[in-house]
Amino acid sequence: MKKIALIGAGGKMGQEITKLISESPQEIKITDLAKGVDVVIEFSSPKGFEKTLKWCVKNKTAFVSEHERQLQRAAKIIPVFWASNFSLGIALVTEMMKQFSELEDFDFQIEEFHHKHKKDKPSGTAKTLQKELHKIVQKKLPEPLSIRGGEIFGIHKIWAMSSSENILIEHSALNRSVFAKGALRASLWLIKQAPGYYSMRDLLSN
Ligand SMILES: NC(=O)c1ccc[n+]([C@@H]2O[C@H](COP(=O)([O-])OP(=O)(O)OC[C@H]3O[C@@H](n4cnc5c(N)ncnc54)[C@H](OP(=O)(O)O)[C@@H]3O)[C@@H](O)[C@H]2O)c1
Repeated sequence: MKKIALIGAGGKMGQEITKLISESPQEIKITDLAKGVDVVIEFSSPKGFEKTLKWCVKNKTAFVSEHERQLQRAAKIIPVFWASNFSLGIALVTEMMKQFSELEDFDFQIEEFHHKHKKDKPSGTAKTLQKELHKIVQKKLPEPLSIRGGEIFGIHKIWAMSSSENILIEHSALNRSVFAKGALRASLWLIKQAPGYYSMRDLLSN
């Protein structure tokens, strides 16, 4: 039996993960920090993240999060898994963007669309894509554009534009369970890992 603690369990992502675990054929139980856990999944807020990370380091417990700060330091002591986006599609988009290194005289722009309740702007995923794109094309990029409305789960677009042609890479999440599945898969995988810093790239290459 694997014991998982979920921080932010009452939120949109937390509820999605709870539903997924209740339907899972694997032996997984959601428990609270006080009862001993194999891994902690955090989908809450920067404050929730800080508090939970401290707890995980103190109690030598594996930690899966969508926040990134201080994780490198913690990774010397516990296994940590970070992804600004737990979908397989965004991991592939990151790989596809590498082709942009061959483009000359192109302008680039990242756009992201999310539901109107989303608190952060630009999204963590857009920031990560921007960082990757900058490494790939090695030029100054305009800030990602953020659009908020309705109940959009998450759309990310990466534009490459020249005077004669445009290229667009687009990823749409069609539901929240795509993130929940990725986070749960990451957490079950992380339990078996030694202390270190892991990301979607490590999960997918295993
Ligand atoms: N990496 C990914 O693939 C991915 C995908 C989707 C979302 N996200 C991110 O995940 C986070 C949560 O998203 P969401 O849509 O589920 O948000 P949400 O619906 O607002 O839920 C957040 C939950 O966290 C709780 N919380 C807030 N501060 C806390 C604290 N200090 N300690 C314990 N619990 C706390 C909230 O409780 P109260 O309501 O009582 O405050 C709420 O239940 C956001 O940062 C979002 O950007 C990441």
